[in-house]
Amino acid sequence: MKIVKVKDYEELSQKAAAYFIQKIKQTPTLTLGLATGSTPEGMYRYLVKDHEKNKTSYRKVKTFNLDEYYGLNGTDKNSYRYFMNQHLLHHIDIELTNAHVPYGDVQKSDVECATYEQLIKQHGGIDLQLLGIGANGHIGFNEPGSSFESRTRVVKLTEKTRQDNARFFNGIDEVPTHALTMGLGTIMESKEIVLIASGAGKKDTMRILLSGKISPDFPASVLHGHPNITVMADEEALAGIQI
Ligand code: F6R
Repeated sequence: MKIVKVKDYEELSQKAAAYFIQKIKQTPTLTLGLATGSTPEGMYRYLVKDHEKNKTSYRKVKTFNLDEYYGLNGTDKNSYRYFMNQHLLHHIDIELTNAHVPYGDVQKSDVECATYEQLIKQHGGIDLQLLGIGANGHIGFNEPGSSFESRTRVVKLTEKTRQDNARFFNGIDEVPTHALTMGLGTIMESKEIVLIASGAGKKDTMRILLSGKISPDFPASVLHGHPNITVMADEEALAGIQI
């Protein structure tokens, strides 16, 4: 696990974006795995800025998002499809049919999960996966206790995660109880992974991650078994941690 320490959120966003841009320029047909949440917002802002200024093209890029709330339609302002459209997809030249987010408002969620796995395989797997990390160590919506072999599936969200995400909704009651998420096994098959973390709120999370202890109680610890992972985090998130 390679660790890159940066000064603050702005530098994190800039560095992470620069890394992705360089990879896209190298391989214009790249398949990206993408995340939502507060952490990647700045990075997406930089990707959009770069696309406008330097014309980096996403015409042949494919994307697969990690997760979606169960029950939400892509037009719902709290859906992850809507988030991706607003923060990135509508501002770059990607073909929207190449930008995948699991469908949340499906009758047969198990069929949707299997289809999503199949689609990732058909595209030759994910080349570069972006991850954030939940305070409880979740990646995607793989909550503590998730199997390291898990695949895309419907999961029940913990109360902690629902509380953490209530800031985007009109109160906790509106936060869906379930989500569709790529599994830990799915994520681990990505050829390369970049995890980003920022702020004092992630300090304890980073301390546990970087302790090196591997346990399903802390899902992100599975990443220690990945051969090509970089953790980019700012000074607040890494405060007091010896690197
Ligand atoms: C979102 C996702 C989640 C977030 C995590 C951190 O697609 O997969 O695992 O990355 O909850 O969220 P923020 O960045 O809001 O702290």
